[in-house]
Amino acid sequence: MTNLAEHAAALVAPGKGILAADESIGTMSARLTAAGVEASEENRRAYREMLVTTPDLAAGIGGVILCEETLKQRVSGGATFPEALAERGIGAGIKVDAGTRPLAGAPGETITEGLDGLGPRLAEYAGLGATFAKWRAVLRIGPGTPSPIAVRANAQALARYASACQEAGLVPIVEPEVLIDGEHSLALCQSVTTLVLLAVMTELEEYGVRADAAVLKPNMVTPGKDSGERAEPDQVAGATLAALGALPDALAGVAFLSGGQPPEQATANLAAMQALPHAWPLTFSFGRALVDPALRAWHGDPACWSDGQRALARRVALNVAAVSGDYQPELELSPA
Ligand code: 13P
Repeated sequence: MTNLAEHAAALVAPGKGILAADESIGTMSARLTAAGVEASEENRRAYREMLVTTPDLAAGIGGVILCEETLKQRVSGGATFPEALAERGIGAGIKVDAGTRPLAGAPGETITEGLDGLGPRLAEYAGLGATFAKWRAVLRIGPGTPSPIAVRANAQALARYASACQEAGLVPIVEPEVLIDGEHSLALCQSVTTLVLLAVMTELEEYGVRADAAVLKPNMVTPGKDSGERAEPDQVAGATLAALGALPDALAGVAFLSGGQPPEQATANLAAMQALPHAWPLTFSFGRALVDPALRAWHGDPACWSDGQRALARRVALNVAAVSGDYQPELELSPA
């Protein structure tokens, strides 16, 4: 178990974050299509190879989360993705949930599925070289939501998953995402996020999940994207740290999702949090806020391979500056 705590600490080591490149086949295909790239298995593979072979990626990335398809694919030299990452000193993670489905009894809300057969799958993924895992629960702020049953059911599923991961020797990333979608205020997002995190922490404790061998991946506390409210980074940082109040000091780290915020905004908010008192590393586990510029720059053209890598390296460097206390908005003006 000590080993597991060491693995967790390495993922969120000072000056490092996590790259979430684990979009499901459906989501990845839609993003490729939107970028004008044919949504084939080979293009999904090539895109992920472009990301993970970015020169010096390990300088700012402790782990890359993959989906099952990528975990079993190979980079051009013949190594599997987990092998290619390990060669670079980067941990390979695996998204193990099966996505969201309607939650009976809670109209309009969802439960994340994938617990059936999870134990054997985790053993298989560990055998393929995964060292950590991810499970995403989704809560939506709206009239009457999230409901108590949606919060409780998703918190329990996260705890069952996390406990199974630790038994299988994988570090669980526990991701309860309160969506940015909606017209809610910053204050309401803070209340809901606080409540959701409290429920998740209670279940983790009841299931005996070791906090020092787990990483929490929450949303930042922001106003809803259709609220018309604007929050400055210091307001987002204050509200987010307040919502994290229930976390145990022993937690290995907090690695935020970007949730659809523009990349520059996610980075500025992350930078502002570092100045406030906190007991755990506060870092990034961004998907879109790291890879969107890289996908646009590459757009499936082999001649633009290194443009894509430069775009990723730039966002990684800016987020490393954010977690290291070296970020200034003017850095966004520097060329890639
Ligand atoms: P975003 O940063 O794009 O929200 O993705 C993070 C993630 O892993 C979602 O599950």
